[in-house]
Amino acid sequence: MAILVDAKTRVLVQGITGREGAARAGLMQRYGTRIVAGVTPGRGGEVTREIPVFDTVQAATEAVGGIDASVIFVPAPQVRDAALEALQAGIRLLVLVADRVPVYDTLEVLEVADRLGARVIGPNTLGIVSPGQALLGMIGGRARLAEEWFRPGPVGVASRSGGMTSALSSGLSRAGIGQSTIVHVGGDGIVGLPLPRVVELFEADPKTEAIVLFGEIGTSQEEEVADLIAAGKVRKPVFAYIGGAAAKSGMRYSHAGALIEGTTGSHAGKVKRLKEVGAVVVKAIEELPAAVRTSLGVGRRLMTENLQWQTGISLAEEGRLYIRGVPLERLIAGARFSEAIFLLLLGRSPSPTEARLVDAILVASIDHGATPPSTLAARTVASTRASFPAAVASGVLAFSDLHGGAIEGCMDLLHELAEKQRTGKPLPEVVEEAVHASRATKRRLLGIGHRIHSKDPRVEALFGVAREQGLGGVYPPILEALQATAERILNTKLPINVDGAIAALLCELQIPAALGNAFFYMARLPGLIAHVYEERTRMRPMRRIHPTDFEYDGPALEEA
Ligand SMILES: CC(C)(COP(=O)(O)OP(=O)(O)OC[C@H]1O[C@@H](n2cnc3c(N)ncnc32)[C@H](O)[C@@H]1OP(=O)(O)O)[C@@H](O)C(=O)NCCC(=O)NCCS
Repeated sequence: MAILVDAKTRVLVQGITGREGAARAGLMQRYGTRIVAGVTPGRGGEVTREIPVFDTVQAATEAVGGIDASVIFVPAPQVRDAALEALQAGIRLLVLVADRVPVYDTLEVLEVADRLGARVIGPNTLGIVSPGQALLGMIGGRARLAEEWFRPGPVGVASRSGGMTSALSSGLSRAGIGQSTIVHVGGDGIVGLPLPRVVELFEADPKTEAIVLFGEIGTSQEEEVADLIAAGKVRKPVFAYIGGAAAKSGMRYSHAGALIEGTTGSHAGKVKRLKEVGAVVVKAIEELPAAVRTSLGVGRRLMTENLQWQTGISLAEEGRLYIRGVPLERLIAGARFSEAIFLLLLGRSPSPTEARLVDAILVASIDHGATPPSTLAARTVASTRASFPAAVASGVLAFSDLHGGAIEGCMDLLHELAEKQRTGKPLPEVVEEAVHASRATKRRLLGIGHRIHSKDPRVEALFGVAREQGLGGVYPPILEALQATAERILNTKLPINVDGAIAALLCELQIPAALGNAFFYMARLPGLIAHVYEERTRMRPMRRIHPTDFEYDGPALEEA
């Protein structure tokens, strides 16, 4: 729901053939506003932006039926006549866009409107928008930014400044807080619906949960809002920013309505009065979204439209950051990197056992000498003095099925073999079938065999950690049986390799196979970074990098 205008509101544009009227009618219509007719005396029978034009409002209502609202785009001297004509034709909501409307004309229009039970927004207003439903006036600008700036939600916005209406609302939208209706009440000293009247409407609107105001010095609008709160007539939370703190006596400031007489309407007086009754008054406009968010519920969805996509990973809002719902500051204070990775990928915190195993897996792949293709690629690019990220990325781009890419396939195989075993088939039979199938299809058995090692030292270390943590009872034995059977049948040395060991442990941790290789990518990044850093800081640029003709001159090698 919204106040004053919604998707059903049938709208007339007076002055539709004028410069602004024509352009804005098109923009309003494209936004979704139901514009049913336009009026310009002497231009009846024409069509502007596919909208029929009539000579009088009466003729328009007779032709198109009931009209709920009129946006009046006629210059100030003609506003009185146009507004009275609309009121007399039965229209009960007027938006008076023009500035410099003579005060007596405004008073006359408001008096007639009051008598007829009609409402007037403005004069000197940018207009009103109920996000996703209807937009009346010039709000949102000509660049069609309204869709991006104004998003449906539970916050009512009323403002005395046109420009700040959009800035304030778009700031809320950027912070994930949608708006029910946004009203620029108009910059004049006398307006049809000043802040307190709009606040009353928001109070009565079941879909508005909080009210945000942009006030400024001059008039008594903010003080009247405070009176409503004090009298218990407004119970929804009110948040306000009051402009004009820096305005000095004798200074011309902002709108015609920003006029201080004596002490009435001063900045300090408004802030004090609103604070006294419990409204939140912020010092900087950027503080409003966080204040509203705290009041309406941290982490709560505050946009009611169907957003195009969802993510369940993390949330960054003004002053707050969450990973899978856990405040980041809590992770900083108490979680290890591996625990945060587990939480990020799987959506839950790991047990101490799981975290220990993830640590071991990540450490196992952190760096494997200077010869892996990814390391050579990263060093080669670093030697050209390309950017640091470009060099690291080159290393990452060298990962493939053959390099760091066997974990996922091995996990799939282990799951398949475990499933067969679960159906009652003895393990020796299960692995023998797998070896024969691999021979028949000429597809390598992933997780066994190594270019250099006849016994991979990382495997026993990883399985040792798993045993120590009481894990590793299902998948490592399957891999071991597969390895022994393959060696026997294929009659060649096929040690379990690090990919196989990691795959078996990730299966034990019930991590999806699709994330298997990613553990290698994550683990190897620090290694690539170390090589890129050394290349940039220690080696001359554009050197010829021999893949094997190098020696290790780091710290002395310790005993295993
Ligand atoms: C209202 C305003 C936008 C009109 O500007 P404009 O579009 O350039 O004016 P134009 O003269 O081109 O158009 C006015 C049209 O109204 C028509 N008009 C005059 N009296 C009319 C009446 N009683 N009923 C209907 N139409 C009427 C005119 O005939 C004219 O149409 P035409 O050009 O086809 O003859 C401008 O006067 C104004 O006030 N601009 C400032 C707005 C502003 O800043 N507001 C505050 C925001 S914070």
